[in-house]
Amino acid sequence: MLTRKSRLKDVYANPIGRDILDRAALQLNISKKVIANPFIRNLRLKTLPKLLKRRLSEGFVDTLLTLLNTEQDTAMSGDGKMQKAWWKEAVFYQIYPRSFKDSNGDGIGDLQGIISKLDYIKELGIDAIWLSPIYDSPNDDNGYDIRDYNKIMTEFGTMEDFEELVIEVHKRDMKLIMDLVVNHTSDEHEWYQKAVKEPESKYRDYYIFQDKPNNWTSFFSGSAWNYVEERQQYALHLFSKKQMDLNWENENLRQEIHEMVKTWLEKGVDGFRLDVINYISKRNGLPDGSEDIGRLMGYYGAEHYFYGPRLHEYLREMNEKVFRPYNAFSVGETPGTGLEMSKLLTADYRYELDMVFSFDHLETPGHTRFDEYQYDLGYLKSYMIYWMENYGNHCQPSLFYENHDNPRMISKINADPQYRIVLGKLLAVIQLTLRGTPFIYQGQELGMVNQDFHTIEELRDVESLNLYNKLCKTMGKKEAFAKILAGTRDHARTPMQWNNQQYAGFSDGEPWIRMDEDYKYCNVESQLQDEDSILHFYQELLAFRKEHSVIYYGEVCFTNKKEKDLFIYYRKDETETLCIEINLGSYNKKRKKCPQGVRLLSNYAELSPVFLRPYEASIWKQGNK
Ligand code: NOJ
Repeated sequence: MLTRKSRLKDVYANPIGRDILDRAALQLNISKKVIANPFIRNLRLKTLPKLLKRRLSEGFVDTLLTLLNTEQDTAMSGDGKMQKAWWKEAVFYQIYPRSFKDSNGDGIGDLQGIISKLDYIKELGIDAIWLSPIYDSPNDDNGYDIRDYNKIMTEFGTMEDFEELVIEVHKRDMKLIMDLVVNHTSDEHEWYQKAVKEPESKYRDYYIFQDKPNNWTSFFSGSAWNYVEERQQYALHLFSKKQMDLNWENENLRQEIHEMVKTWLEKGVDGFRLDVINYISKRNGLPDGSEDIGRLMGYYGAEHYFYGPRLHEYLREMNEKVFRPYNAFSVGETPGTGLEMSKLLTADYRYELDMVFSFDHLETPGHTRFDEYQYDLGYLKSYMIYWMENYGNHCQPSLFYENHDNPRMISKINADPQYRIVLGKLLAVIQLTLRGTPFIYQGQELGMVNQDFHTIEELRDVESLNLYNKLCKTMGKKEAFAKILAGTRDHARTPMQWNNQQYAGFSDGEPWIRMDEDYKYCNVESQLQDEDSILHFYQELLAFRKEHSVIYYGEVCFTNKKEKDLFIYYRKDETETLCIEINLGSYNKKRKKCPQGVRLLSNYAELSPVFLRPYEASIWKQGNK
């Protein structure tokens, strides 16, 4: 049990403490060496506010202690042999159905559209598909606000279409996982409607109601509470005003969720990506969020729910009752969890989740998604080294840069078009040769980049629109729009670029969201015909993985860790050794030596023994086996 007298080194020995200190160091751009300094390590917690007088309040220490004492476990050592599993060998492909392929000309992607492109996905070399939500929804947050878990969104098709999709995916020997959004539902969900209108019914506490709101803020701007006239109470929504947080303390609710999940498993789906699943357990009494943390993070209250007291219990329960009996795969979306917390959520001996998506690598420290800045690949290198060396063999890392919530990675790193192709291929090399399960987001395999939006009216995303309105209260419209443009999720939500025809072959009708002219040059059809395209490179690499199981289960060892812009690592097992050699910089980097062996794949056709060219990335095979 940690107390005010505990020292920073004790905090660092606690899994949450370690993640928080590492995260704070990242956020404040402080080197980890500072935390390792003996003077700092021996500081007592209670002295912190005094020492950092202007930055931390007295209440901070108590909040921190409550959080740290939530976790009594520490993860076992990660040595030993990795257990095999299909999802450790698979490469996943994320489909955002609204923007993937439209079959009926209404400008909105749909299930028949997806079915028509399954051969494309298979030929790319994909093993499993993650489908963003397709359930009935009023679309306040594009399907992440579910109105009916047992119905398909009309715009996307019917239950028959879905059943056909499952059959067609399996026919091609791929797996299908669904998005499971159970931290919240739409306010139009029957449960919420009844909770509000029938306060005597069993639904009365399916959601989180309070007589008074606390100071928590929503991720989509403003207070996290709606006033509910009928109950004369406030209801919690961590996301949009129409996404009401479910009360997982209620056992009936948990059972209903389990039953609902089972019905999808009965239909043959192979698992789930669980939306913000680490938010489902909120601290008893819903205390106010710390001012210090709120100021640092930009939102208030998260320390009371991002790793709540009953999180492990709820996950274990769902695993035991639902996932294990169906042999279902699970990957949790867990914003804010660092390496140690992620271990406790995914270690194979704990039976909670199979994997998580942790997000700290998506922005260079000191920046948020809405900052206009150039992402530093050197940071990606240090992040990957840290995870690969410390996550251990009981846990499987997820490998991704893009999804429907983030701008395109190439644009973040270097928007200069001369680097687009080499950079797209470099990202593929890292993602597909490190240890872990890769998740490719639709269009990433083409090197799709951020869209050229011009006005706020062209944007669709609730997060962007709310933030824009909020920013406009303190800055000019132009400035506010520039900020939104840097981070809007809509960059990733424009239609998939299939060909150079009108609307990129996505639809016969005008798409639901504006697309610029990029599809004229960057599209599936033209890249399939071009042997040097990013798409071809992905195909080659995905085929390559299937022939080199060292990538799934082999060791990963890094060299030249401190050398700027040089990223070198080896993948080794009893049968072979691969060397991955990368220049993370946009300049010619003088070589000290070439790796020995045969260069099997590279984003540059010719080898230069003198230089590593801008963003050069190659895979070498060593030895003669
Ligand atoms: C995470 C999802 O990825 C995002 O798109 C959504 O807005 C929030 N969770 C709320 O469901």
